[in-house]
Amino acid sequence: MIRERRTGTPNGGLAWLEAGAGWPVVLLHAFPLNADMWRPQLERVPDGWRFLAPDFRGFGGSRTDGPPEDGSQGIDRYAADVLAFMDALTIESAMIAGLSMGGYVALAMHRQAPLRFAGLVLADTRATADTVEGRAGRVRMRELLAREGPAAVADQMLPKLLSAGADAALVAHVRDLITRAEPAGVDAAIAAMMSRPDSTPYLPQIGCATLIVAGDRDEITPVADADAMQRAIPLSMLTVIPGAGHLSNLEQPELFSRGLADFLRAH
Ligand code: MLT
Repeated sequence: MIRERRTGTPNGGLAWLEAGAGWPVVLLHAFPLNADMWRPQLERVPDGWRFLAPDFRGFGGSRTDGPPEDGSQGIDRYAADVLAFMDALTIESAMIAGLSMGGYVALAMHRQAPLRFAGLVLADTRATADTVEGRAGRVRMRELLAREGPAAVADQMLPKLLSAGADAALVAHVRDLITRAEPAGVDAAIAAMMSRPDSTPYLPQIGCATLIVAGDRDEITPVADADAMQRAIPLSMLTVIPGAGHLSNLEQPELFSRGLADFLRAH
């Protein structure tokens, strides 16, 4: 059973959903969604595990802003928020799983605090920074957001977030999650993603067991990106999910959850 979103940790931080009891697994969501995208995994939490899915700052139930307490900016700030969330719940270390932007945040967390990782899951994400064209696309997306709001961002992104075979109810669900996002939170996340550093040189330093997951139809972070990360991270394995686009956990929830559970049991 999913324990519904709690608003803020004792120190006034992130809101989150959780399910299960036992070893903690922190699930980090994609852009521009929120912790709700992890419901299929929260509903299938394996025995002995506690899944916690925080909303990033400015998404879902988490506050939009506030001055950075430690001066960190961009993706590093989301990473610091999640580490503070773990502190507030007295979670010393956890399996950290991030999908897409969640993966960018997981890599930033690992740079900041590698000892907090019992293991790492990088799903439908990449280690490289944005290309010049990628950044130009982000600038255009910020303009679109300012002009027409999150619904226009949803229209632009949906064909790439889910594969052509995705069911209409799922497409409508993802559209709804994006449309309900706060424009200020979405804008801050675009700015953070476009300035994120290249993590490629860091990958060989990741010492924990790592599962890399990719939907075989992912057009945003194709399997080639996952493959490159797998070759660079020493204790890593790659699972490709058939019949899934970028949001592989939503499009093939059974396969994704099974792959995650197998990895958790093995480590
Ligand atoms: C995401 O799914 O989090 C985003 O598509 C990532 C990105 O735009 O780089």
